[in-house]
Amino acid sequence: MKQMIIHGGKPLKGDVWIGGAKNSTVALIPASILSRTPVTLEGVPRIADVDNLMDLLSEMDVKCDFHETTLRINPDDIKRSPLPAGKIKSLRASYYFMGALLGRFGKAVVGFPGGDDIGPRPIDQHIKGFEALGATVENENDQIIITAPKTGLRGAKIHLKMPSVGATMNIIMASVMAKGQTVIENAAKEPEIIDLATFLNNMGAVIRGAGTDVIRIEGVEELKAQTPHTIIPDRIEAGTYVALAACIGDGIRIHNIIEEHLDSYLAKVEEMGVVIDSDEDSLYVYPAGDLKMVQVRTDVYPGFATDLQQPVTPLLLTAKTGEGVVIDQIYPKRVGHIPELQKMGANIHVEDNIILVHPTHHLHGAHVSAGEIRAGACLMLAGLMADGETIISNAGNILRGYDRIEQKLRQLGAEVSVIDV
Ligand code: EPU
Repeated sequence: MKQMIIHGGKPLKGDVWIGGAKNSTVALIPASILSRTPVTLEGVPRIADVDNLMDLLSEMDVKCDFHETTLRINPDDIKRSPLPAGKIKSLRASYYFMGALLGRFGKAVVGFPGGDDIGPRPIDQHIKGFEALGATVENENDQIIITAPKTGLRGAKIHLKMPSVGATMNIIMASVMAKGQTVIENAAKEPEIIDLATFLNNMGAVIRGAGTDVIRIEGVEELKAQTPHTIIPDRIEAGTYVALAACIGDGIRIHNIIEEHLDSYLAKVEEMGVVIDSDEDSLYVYPAGDLKMVQVRTDVYPGFATDLQQPVTPLLLTAKTGEGVVIDQIYPKRVGHIPELQKMGANIHVEDNIILVHPTHHLHGAHVSAGEIRAGACLMLAGLMADGETIISNAGNILRGYDRIEQKLRQLGAEVSVIDV
C-alpha cells in the first residue's frame, strides 16, 4: 500500500513535461504481440500500468526492455498462454489482450478485467464485436474464452451501441488479420484510437477512418514492426497540470501538449477566467485571478473528457461565487472523490449523480483515500491547495496513471512524498 503525503499551500512554478498517453500505451503494449518482429515504443510513461502489462507479457515469454521512456518488446518467442485472473485484475486495460491474442492466435483465454472503481463497466460491445467476426465467446470460472472458427476470423460490419474506446480498439486488434473487410460503425473517435491505427498501419495493417465514427479495416496476412512508434502526449495528464497550475500555480509552462486534444477542456477552463498562452506544443498558465463558476458535462471525444471531471473539481472550488454543476454522462457514478473532498472542508455534494460545487476558499489537510486514478488526481490537487498535511491512502492508484508524479511535482516546488505503508 502506498501513501502520498502532501504539505500544501505552497505556490508552484516552473516547467513540467507531459508523458506519453496512458490510454494509448495500455493498448499499444498488448497490440505489440500482433507483430512478427520486435516493436519499439517511444515516449512511454513511467506508470504502474506499464509495469503490470510487462509482467503479463513475460507470462507469455515476450521479452521487454524498458529504458527511460523507450520500451522494446520482442514477441519472437511468444507462447499463447492463458492469462488468468490475478495480474489481469490489476488493470482494466488487460482486456486488450482479448483482441490481441484473438487476432494473433485465434484464441484468447483472459480473466475478467479489473480496473478503476467508477461504476458499472460492461464489455458487451467488445464481445459483440468478437462474435460478429465469427468467434465464440464463453465464460468459465471468472475467465473469458474466445475462440475463432477453424477457418479463421472473417471481416464483418459491427455497429457499436455506444462509441466505446475499449470495444473500438479491441475490434481493431482482432480484425487486422481477419479475412476481408471489417467496418466499425459508431466507433469511438478519441485520439488514442488514431494512435493505435497509426501504430498498426506502420506495421502493414490497412485501417482507414480512425478518428471518425466509421473505421474500415482490410485484413492483411501479417504485421511487422519496422520503425519505432512515438506515443502521443497524455491529454488527461496535461489537463490535470492545467488545473493544478490554475489552482496553485505562480506561472507554469506545460510542455509536450497537442492542444487540439484539449479543446473542450481548455474552453471550459478559459470560460472560468483562467489565462493561458499557447505556443507550438506547450501552454503557459498564468496565476489565476478571480474565477467564475461553470457547469461541466462530460461527453465522448471531442467533448469534455470524463477523466478530467475530477481533476478540474478543485479548480471549481476556487471560483468566487455561484453554484457549479458537474454531470458525468459517461460514468455517472464517478463521484467517489466527493466524500473525500468534504473531509478537507469542501462545500460540495452529490444529488442523483449530479455534483453540486460551491465556492470554498479554504481547504484543510485531511486523511483521504484515492478510490481510483482520477479521484486520486483530484485529491492530490486539493492537498496541494490545502493548509497543513494531507495523507492520501491508496496512492498506488495515482501512480497507475501519472508519469513520475512525485518527481514532477517536486520540480514545481511541491512538498510531496510517496511512501510504502
Ligand atoms: N460501455 C458499455 N459496454 C461496453 C463498453 C462500454 O456499456 O462494452 C459503456 C461504459 O460503461 C461507459 C461507456 O460505454 O459508460 C464508455 O466506455 P468506454 O468503453 O469508452 O471506456 P473504456 O474503454 O472502458 C477508456 C479509458 C477510461 C476512460 C474511458 C472513456 C482505457 C484503459 N480506459 O475506458 O480511462 O474513462 O475510455 O473515455 O483506455 C482513466 O484513464 O481514468 C480511465 C478510466
